[in-house]
Amino acid sequence: MRNLMITGGAGFIGSNFVRYILERYSDYRVVVYDKLTYAGNLDNLLDVAQNPRYAFVQGDICDAQAVRETIRRYDVDTIVNFAAETHVDRSLTDPGSFIMTDVFGTYVLLEAAKEFGLERYHQVGTDEVYGQVLEGSSVETDPLHTRSPYSASKAGGDMMVLAYYASFDVPATITRGSNNIGPYQYPEKVVPLFITNAIDDKPLPIYGDGLQMRDYQYVRDHCEGIDVVLHKGRVGEIYNLGTGVETRNIDMARLILELLGKPESLIQYITDRPGHDRRYSLDVSKIQALGWRSQHTFAQALEATVRWYVDNEWWWRKIKSGEQYREYYQRHYAGREIEKK
Ligand code: NAD
Ligand code: TYD
Repeated sequence: MRNLMITGGAGFIGSNFVRYILERYSDYRVVVYDKLTYAGNLDNLLDVAQNPRYAFVQGDICDAQAVRETIRRYDVDTIVNFAAETHVDRSLTDPGSFIMTDVFGTYVLLEAAKEFGLERYHQVGTDEVYGQVLEGSSVETDPLHTRSPYSASKAGGDMMVLAYYASFDVPATITRGSNNIGPYQYPEKVVPLFITNAIDDKPLPIYGDGLQMRDYQYVRDHCEGIDVVLHKGRVGEIYNLGTGVETRNIDMARLILELLGKPESLIQYITDRPGHDRRYSLDVSKIQALGWRSQHTFAQALEATVRWYVDNEWWWRKIKSGEQYREYYQRHYAGREIEKK
């Protein structure tokens, strides 16, 4: 592996992964291939823009010809696919774009991996494909019980990856990560939304009773885990990737307020998300057997994340003051307030 095509590399996790790879491997080159949707942002990559081992191509993973041209031009041997529509709430109002990018786009990349005989295709997947897990933890062989158009689309992508491995010997791996937090996360996702609202003394909108649980992991740990699977994982295999520890949304919100010295009165309960998965939980023993360990507890990850948003207002204020974001926020949150339970 020397020439990595990082699709979706201008998004949250992808841009952190680009930075991680350039630091960790002095002989690797990366080409970011990204459509620059509302979630893609070249500000996320400003600090690597001058690196001679980095290149950027604006393109859609559904565009087979542009994908092929990029592979040829940059002599790509490995694809790491982060490109996706990723926000569950948006998947409820616009499922079509999720099916296009997360399923059809994955197929286009797999076709290219097959045609060019790439060394590795890696799919960045999600724990949401297991569906809500009320008790116990998901192992990689568990059946998939998707409940949102987002998770259903991601499951479709995973299935296509396994099909290309079985049918065409495309050397593919999949990781299924839990919720990431850290620098450069678009402030529609719950943690950066709550941090930036709290900084501005605005309400923190909690869906339903706030007792839903997520395994929030630090994005750098996730990047290291993908690296471990790229270098030590077995092709055709799936690896869960998370801390194995879950936190309730209400506790996450309270800790953010505590870290920022803001009052709990900022918490505002609102009507629940339809089909809201109560809990995700991952068994991570398979990736731990490869030598990977999460380096941050939830408290450490949240503290580092809060610090980054406090120190980088230039990054998120530009987004939150934009017309597109404000229109989304108004459409999604207006009039949903409910009494505290
Ligand atoms: P993000 O929404 O921040 O970024 C997605 C990126 O993909 C953006 O840069 C966007 O421009 C790009 N993109 C979207 N459609 C595209 C297309 N058709 N062609 C090319 N580029 C396109 O997402 P993220 O949170 O960084 O997630 C990255 C990946 O990790 C996704 O596949 C997601 O399903 C997966 N994942 C995310 C989390 C999480 O907590 N954020 C957890 C587990 C897995
Ligand atoms: P989110 O960041 O959208 O990730 P996902 O739904 O993919 O896990 O949401 C994380 C949790 O936070 C989830 O249980 C929904 C909840 N949530 C809120 O309570 N309020 C919000 O405004 C948002 C965006 C999410």
